[in-house]
Amino acid sequence: MLAELFAAAAHGCRDRSPLTQRLLDDAAADLTRGGVTAAIMAGSERDRHGTVPGLRFAGAVHRLVLEGRAPDLAQHYPTVGGQPHLPTLWQDALPALHTHADLLRRRVQATVVQTNEPGRSAPLYGGLLVAAQEAARAAERTVPFCVRLLEVGASGGLNLRPHHVGYRLEDRVLGDPGSPLVLDPEWTGRPPADLAHRLRVVGRAGCDLHPVDVSTEDGRLHLSSFVWADQVRRWNRLRDALDLAATDPVKVEQSPGPEWLAKQLARAERDVLTVVWHSVVWQYVSPADRAMGRAVLADAAMKATRTSPLALLVFEPRRVDDPDVGYRFELLLKLWPAGISLNLGHGAGHGTPFTWDVTPWE
Ligand SMILES: C[S@@+](CC[C@H](N)C(=O)[O-])C[C@H]1O[C@@H](n2cnc3c(N)ncnc32)[C@H](O)[C@@H]1O
Repeated sequence: MLAELFAAAAHGCRDRSPLTQRLLDDAAADLTRGGVTAAIMAGSERDRHGTVPGLRFAGAVHRLVLEGRAPDLAQHYPTVGGQPHLPTLWQDALPALHTHADLLRRRVQATVVQTNEPGRSAPLYGGLLVAAQEAARAAERTVPFCVRLLEVGASGGLNLRPHHVGYRLEDRVLGDPGSPLVLDPEWTGRPPADLAHRLRVVGRAGCDLHPVDVSTEDGRLHLSSFVWADQVRRWNRLRDALDLAATDPVKVEQSPGPEWLAKQLARAERDVLTVVWHSVVWQYVSPADRAMGRAVLADAAMKATRTSPLALLVFEPRRVDDPDVGYRFELLLKLWPAGISLNLGHGAGHGTPFTWDVTPWE
């Protein structure tokens, strides 16, 4: 059973991470013959499919490499300067797997797969510009609103600084060009907003069921270990986002989203647009939390005013009719009391590239 889950996880990496795919395929074969992987996964045999035991294993192995505890394997890992050579990957993994089997077993059991993708700051930034300007237009104000950003499912909080990130377009850099994190948003089209206006963020806060404290080495290693080691661009983006976070700390509170949101939304700020944001979270939220989250938001929406407006901005996968596509990641915006409801566009799961294409959100 575990071997099947490993093989399925390996299949999920195809075309995206040959290194992780090969590691998991070899580990699946090792599980079947009762090798060291079986000892490492002891106690995790009955774990649910949704906890992705294979990715927990791959993350724990990657972490060993990052910590310098797997020198033979490190030569295959681009995140520490290596170059994958798949035919010898498994034989070079074995010494570290044997030496650190107990540590790996404890880590695999204690870990949930946890990612935080800073590329999603690009659609967030564009969406916030639109929200701040549309809310101002609806309130007949000439200057866009300042924003208070509330993120549910913030993970390590790496998307809580959209105004401190640079966004490199062909003709200019939006946001903060001097930031340690400058993204290539790869936009087709542009957000329907005046890009000359700077985004002003006057408050931000986040919550997560399993927050990652990126001010600690442990937290940084934890997030880093779940980036597939041959996805170098993504790795560099994460490293730059962690550097930015070190200059501008924001704590992510440990809490289920709805309770936290209810507390945050109980306080409305005058002349500030409150934006509730979540990205790639909804699929993980329990039905009870979904219902409660909707109720909390509906209550706050009823209380929103022209001087204290509210927005919901989400970047989430949605099913589409085309069977070849299946689902795609869409950026959706609702504004209260303006009654605006827009689908702003769609993009890749990590936030870039992104196509701005505004239609009504039904
Ligand atoms: C795939 S991660 C996405 C993290 C981040 N939003 C991003 O875009 O990089 C999903 C996150 O949602 C969090 N999560 C799931 N259910 C939650 C809930 N009911 N309340 C708060 N956070 C939740 C998970 O702990 C996890 O950190």
